[in-house]
Amino acid sequence: MRHIIDPTDLSRDEIDDLLALSKNIIDNPGAYSEKCRGRILATMFYEPSTRTRLSFESAMLSLGGGVIGFASADSSSASKGESVADTVRVISCYADICAIRHPKEGAALVAAQYAGIPVINAGDGGHQHPTQTFTDLLTIKSLKNTLSSLTVGFCGDLKFGRTVHSLLKALCLFPDNRYVFISPDELRVPGYLLEEGARRGCGNFTESASLEDNIGRMDILYMTRVQRERFFNEEDYVRLKDSYILTPSKLAGAKPDMAILHPLPRVNEISVEVDSDPRAQYFNQVRYGKYVRMALILKLLGL
Ligand code: NCD
Repeated sequence: MRHIIDPTDLSRDEIDDLLALSKNIIDNPGAYSEKCRGRILATMFYEPSTRTRLSFESAMLSLGGGVIGFASADSSSASKGESVADTVRVISCYADICAIRHPKEGAALVAAQYAGIPVINAGDGGHQHPTQTFTDLLTIKSLKNTLSSLTVGFCGDLKFGRTVHSLLKALCLFPDNRYVFISPDELRVPGYLLEEGARRGCGNFTESASLEDNIGRMDILYMTRVQRERFFNEEDYVRLKDSYILTPSKLAGAKPDMAILHPLPRVNEISVEVDSDPRAQYFNQVRYGKYVRMALILKLLGL
């Protein structure tokens, strides 16, 4: 039995296979519509979500399976004081696979230690978000036909943004990528991730506070929301929230084929005028999220 807590729980070859399977599902959805008949996915969401939870549920339904779950801690026995360990043991009696989102870093790993079924981390605090990463990789692969030798810019809240941490870890599996980290000083990428990256041979990065100075060399621009819920005080959030706002005029300096990604939700960091630019790929990225989760469910259930 395998769990996905971190994107590197899959090897590079397994990620390549997962993306190939996702592509096959996109091209032949009918061939997969009964694969999970009789199987149940449980979604255990202790934190708000739109895309991740609904794409998991839509993925399982499109495979012919069923879904159960809760969308907030208030509507589960967590509100009575039940631990994640106990809840996941219980869920293991009702479902064949589960996806868990929790505000605490490490909660998905704890769930995996007690579960009798495969556990997928759907986001643990400011730590990791592997299925968003597989979505991002499928989007990049579809647009660039490669996951190597790219210049990838990350902009916004690189400290608390778990999608950034996961994507960075996964891209390190592929050779010759260059990274440009754009953030205010308070929201820089955690040092442990940079050190780990350097150890794993992806130390080709620069850090800057300026998007304009760096946008011209990027193949991918990964914009992120400032993670309000992870701040200790509202004052700091208010001061930092509009540090970067991508507008058509800032895009004027970018490559004509640069792709703009964003895990969403967007708050203010990409102006709506950018949506009609062909480089804006964030809504296509949403669509890929369902197919990659279909592929992952099939893989973990051994189907
Ligand atoms: C992200 C998350 O939850 O980390 N959303 C998502 O899953 N697509 C990004 C965010 O909330 O900013």
